[in-house]
Amino acid sequence: MLRGAIIGFGAVAENGHSLAYAGSPEAKIVAVVDRTETRRKAAEKSLPSIATFATIEELSDGPEIDFVDICTPPSLHGAPMLQALACGWNVLCEKPLLLNLDELDKVRTLARKSGRAVVPVHNWKYAPIIRRATDALRSGAIGSLREIEIETLRIEDCVAADPAHPNWRRDPSIAGGGVLMDHGWHSVYLARHWFGEDPVAVEAALHRPTPGGIEDEATLTLHFPNGRAKIFLTWRADRRQNTIRLSGDHGTIAIDDDTLRIGDEEIRFESALSAGSHHADWFAAMLPDVIAKFRSPETSRESFEEAALCLSVIRCAYELPVRL
Ligand SMILES: NC(=O)c1ccc[n+]([C@@H]2O[C@H](COP(=O)([O-])OP(=O)(O)OC[C@H]3O[C@@H](n4cnc5c(N)ncnc54)[C@H](O)[C@@H]3O)[C@@H](O)[C@H]2O)c1
Repeated sequence: MLRGAIIGFGAVAENGHSLAYAGSPEAKIVAVVDRTETRRKAAEKSLPSIATFATIEELSDGPEIDFVDICTPPSLHGAPMLQALACGWNVLCEKPLLLNLDELDKVRTLARKSGRAVVPVHNWKYAPIIRRATDALRSGAIGSLREIEIETLRIEDCVAADPAHPNWRRDPSIAGGGVLMDHGWHSVYLARHWFGEDPVAVEAALHRPTPGGIEDEATLTLHFPNGRAKIFLTWRADRRQNTIRLSGDHGTIAIDDDTLRIGDEEIRFESALSAGSHHADWFAAMLPDVIAKFRSPETSRESFEEAALCLSVIRCAYELPVRL
């Protein structure tokens, strides 16, 4: 059984990750680090018998651990990641893994030097409806993939638990961007996962309600060697919805929230893709792969590079016109 510490006990840690660890036969949480007392108390309440700490330095004098699971807001992922690697711990970290390409290089170098894994939470790949669509694509149900369309509609951004920054998703210095950095990250790794290769060019149009502020709407086209992915993301829709189309030479795989259509076949799933924000079940489905990467860190490189690609694409979109 691997022993881990959650860093940042906010909404996703409480409502997603900790529920999944509770059912895992392979990993358990023995400590939580959160800078606020309110959130340390919340952790003690929902995870009895853990130790809590205000800083990662205090954690290093605490119980023995094998890994950390970083769930702080985005601009606060890099520092604990570097500290964890320096302590010899493996790292699981929420998306967006990192916001800055120089920091990403530093983490890559330190992970290799220390022989530890850094694994991003790319949990959408583990949603049951997405897995079924991926299996259909891989089994040749629509022939060669030519076009992906992904639409993520939200009425507003997700609520945060951080008492110091309840609106951090609207603060570019903490979030690193808006809806594109937040939801778009998932769309970029899904598109790469389905095409099986990196995009070669990016086009983007962003809507920013205030100059210098975050974007609340984004339209992105990723050009791949064999096709393209069109991505639309918004925090100003009149409804909450996710739709995805995978179009190939011989047909289409369509996801409309809880419904998957593969050609004439229609399959209903228990919950819609847009239901909830913390996805304990997707996280639980992902955990065995994460643990396998912790046990053999050299197998974690591909998932790290998947996150690196997400960051490069989103940085390109923010800095256009630039080609990848
Ligand atoms: N993969 C997904 O589906 C998914 C869903 C929701 C959130 N997320 C990601 O999870 C991360 C956290 O989001 P959230 O909604 O839980 O945020 P949140 O604001 O609810 O929680 C953040 C927590 O981190 C703590 N914190 C802040 N700075 C800290 C520091 N320096 N040291 C220790 N603790 C610190 C805060 O006190 C708070 O408890 C973000 O990166 C977000 O994008 C991912």
